[in-house]
Amino acid sequence: MVSKMNEVKTIVFNQHGDVRGFLTAIEGSKDIPFDIKRIFYIYGAESGAVRGSHSNRRTRFVIISLNGKCKIRVADGCDNERIYELNHPNEGLYIPEMIWKDMYDFSNDCVLLVLASAEYDAAEYIRNFEDLKKEMIIS
Ligand code: TYD
Repeated sequence: MVSKMNEVKTIVFNQHGDVRGFLTAIEGSKDIPFDIKRIFYIYGAESGAVRGSHSNRRTRFVIISLNGKCKIRVADGCDNERIYELNHPNEGLYIPEMIWKDMYDFSNDCVLLVLASAEYDAAEYIRNFEDLKKEMIIS
């Protein structure tokens, strides 16, 4: 399977600021590359915690740190790896399908908003990195 690592990208959203503060609006398929089918959020992660540690066969994600910061390591199972830091609410990280992701180095106040292209389906998760490597080689 062809690696989708080149599709991983930071998206900078519009930020409407005035004396009252800031507002960022996100519209599916317009500001991000898919229609939003699901959102979930991650909070209260310990600084030493590692979350994610999987790839998804068909779901694409945009991850935004609404508050605080964390790091995200992405890998394609073909020896390519990149590390991003999310630390501002008007910035998101787009992660396509078949990309491994680890979220770590959470600040105490970190709140991650995750926009997803599909509803939750535990069966589409690849939870073992070796399995991802094999699938990328075989197909
Ligand atoms: P998990 O995949 O371990 O979260 P993370 O990717 O941050 O490590 O999910 C934690 C629990 O939440 C697990 O029992 C599955 C459940 N869950 C849902 O019910 N719906 C969802 O959309 C997600 C992402 C997880």
